[in-house]
Amino acid sequence: MSNRDQLIIFDTTLRDGEQSPGASMTREEKVRIARALERLRVDVIEAGFPAASKGDFESVRAVARTIRESRVCGLARARGEDIDRAGEALAEAVMPRIHTFIATSPIHMERKLQMTPDQVVEQAVWAVTRARQYCDDVEFSPEDAGRSDPDFLCRVLEAVIDAGATTVNIPDTVGYAVPEQFGALIARLRERIPNADKAVFSVHCHNDLGLAVANSLAAVGQGARQVECTINGLGERAGNAALEEIVMAVRTRQDALPVETRIDTREIVPTSRLVANITGFAVQPNKAIVGANAFAHESGIHQDGVLKHRETYEIMRAEDVGWSTNRMVLGKHSGRNAFRSRLQELGVEFESEQHLNEAFARFKDLADKKHEIFDEDLQALVTEAAQEL
Ligand code: KIV
Ligand code: ZN
Repeated sequence: MSNRDQLIIFDTTLRDGEQSPGASMTREEKVRIARALERLRVDVIEAGFPAASKGDFESVRAVARTIRESRVCGLARARGEDIDRAGEALAEAVMPRIHTFIATSPIHMERKLQMTPDQVVEQAVWAVTRARQYCDDVEFSPEDAGRSDPDFLCRVLEAVIDAGATTVNIPDTVGYAVPEQFGALIARLRERIPNADKAVFSVHCHNDLGLAVANSLAAVGQGARQVECTINGLGERAGNAALEEIVMAVRTRQDALPVETRIDTREIVPTSRLVANITGFAVQPNKAIVGANAFAHESGIHQDGVLKHRETYEIMRAEDVGWSTNRMVLGKHSGRNAFRSRLQELGVEFESEQHLNEAFARFKDLADKKHEIFDEDLQALVTEAAQEL
């Protein structure tokens, strides 16, 4: 048994991820993804926003009926009708959670809600109290916390924890935070809120500046014990923190991060593929962990190093995240060692060193003209080289 704290992985692919323009999912698709998330051993699945539409209500209800091993969560604004819809949609969940939110930044309170700070505190407490009538597990988020006054956040969070919120989530709704400052905000809230130890501190970071994962990890360093994230970093605008990056950073850098997750990392790539296929959002080739090139080596120096010892250029094992293996890509930067090794795998033996040299010279000529050299290209050029000699 390890003595590290558990980092709760809260996946919001089916809710915030679905807010990516063009990523809507049917009920059946949501259930398929929820099953994959359960296999991945995600702790909490945010299945949707039941008050948003009849379809989303049905999807959350179907996920709640299907999932046994993960908590199932529904989002609700701090309004009676939203909370009641979420409570109803989650009625058959084994472990239900209601996640309610209201904005706390000056711009959102004045311009969007047209409410005073006092009214926002009152509404937040009212919403949490109402949600607790449906379940014991209630999460509260002060929306746009990244641009809210920290003293006001302390006031709201203390009040909602008193009202029964078991998780308080700090969203960087517009991806405005930078890691050091965001980590310091979490430290300050945990220090200053007198009842902070009665709730789990969570973070929910958007990627507008490409800092969602860095901000989340800075928060973990300061005591956040739940991270909200999505598969492939899907989500509103530039997306949310990518689950696969958070999980593998925690696993790979145990020396720097004092937590562990329950995730079965071998399910990461299959889940990423499923989400990409269902949403139609292709994963960029150089995406960390799940991109096609994440474990591919093209340059001769790197290939030679990896063939001698994988850890020269790999900090994780491809197999540990669900790839069948790492990959040597033959292209114009590749060297003789990788070329020979690939041909050996294909069962090709060179009769002489001269034959290898001739084939390698032909390979380099072809590589200057083509992005990637495939096995068929190799077979052809080896035959041609043999005929030439
Ligand atoms: O980004 C955000 O603020 C949200 C909240 C609903 C948590 O998605
Ligand atoms: Zn969000």
